[in-house]
Amino acid sequence: MQVSLFKSYLTAPSSPYKGGKSRSEIQSDKPIYKLSSNENLLGASPLALQAIQDNLHLLNEYPERTGESLRVALSEFYQQQLLPASFITANSGVGIIELLVNAFLEEGLECIASNPGFKPYFRFPEKVGAKVHDIPLVGDNYLLDIPSILNAINERTRMVWVCSPNNPAGTYIPKYQIDELIEQLPEHVVLVYDEVYYQFATAEDYSTALPYVVAGKNAIGINSFSKAYGLAGLRVGYAYSTPEIAAYVRLMRRPFLLNTLSLEAAKAALKDNDFIQKTVANTNAGKAYLYPEFDKLGLQYWKSQANFILTKPDMDAHEFEAKMLEQGIMVRPVANFGAPGCVRITIGTPEANAALVAGLKKVLV
Ligand SMILES: Cc1ncc(COP(=O)(O)O)c(C=O)c1O
Repeated sequence: MQVSLFKSYLTAPSSPYKGGKSRSEIQSDKPIYKLSSNENLLGASPLALQAIQDNLHLLNEYPERTGESLRVALSEFYQQQLLPASFITANSGVGIIELLVNAFLEEGLECIASNPGFKPYFRFPEKVGAKVHDIPLVGDNYLLDIPSILNAINERTRMVWVCSPNNPAGTYIPKYQIDELIEQLPEHVVLVYDEVYYQFATAEDYSTALPYVVAGKNAIGINSFSKAYGLAGLRVGYAYSTPEIAAYVRLMRRPFLLNTLSLEAAKAALKDNDFIQKTVANTNAGKAYLYPEFDKLGLQYWKSQANFILTKPDMDAHEFEAKMLEQGIMVRPVANFGAPGCVRITIGTPEANAALVAGLKKVLV
């Protein structure tokens, strides 16, 4: 019998989740606007930056073991609708996704995700040997195909991933669909609801996972400090669920998972309403400016509930990426997120948005 040192499902060829390119990977002597990773171009929460400065003297000591003070701060942020015991904190939203996959999946178990979608929902389960059923989103508005999701559920299924606002589409799942799905999920399946762009959603029938969790449903809301709070470089995220599910997932957490500066910055950021308001207003103004400009240029796009816009240029997506880079703009082709031919563009500052439009005018002639 041939025995291998390596796990076959780890070495099987499959496109990995690489994340967007960093600025240092780009060779350019010109200033570059990075509109490729849905970051906050206004910078980081000033309250978070101050907290980092104020806590530098603590770095010789270990941080809190379980990050409890952040869970307490989150409970306050959610106005006590959730107890500290309902939260899970980790090194980023992707770190939360990894904890969830390790907590709920293994070889022989399954989950359901929908393309276009965030790559880790597909790649991370494969890393533990679990199977992912892709039930694609349907129609121009990218809605859930609920009958097919329910049909794909069996006794091996543990999770259904929903992303709203969706990365890469920027579209959202209306509340009636979440209601319909959650009502029909069996007890052994949890709805994992990735809402890391929720601050930007303006649709009246948008809902986070909060009311479902408060009602005691098997649901988990995933959040991140990388987007609206502008702390992508710090790597902090959290999730909330019922105290039972949260306590179970926390079993996967190692002690001292969050460092002192991350803990203090995240707590301060939660108090930075001014910065969130400024950020959301900037994004909304960016949409109001960019949509008509895209219309004039004949660039196909999807109206967004997030801080980025999915576009479909009339040329190869990688050629478009390269040509935009020559104009000083980094954008992100998202074929590997299940949107072939499409390119995702972050909404920036007024200056960055104007540079984007100037670049598009040269590239889309
Ligand atoms: C839908 C979605 N979920 C989670 C994340 C994770 O963000 P982070 O790991 O930076 O917290 C991202 C980041 O791009 C995202 O788009």
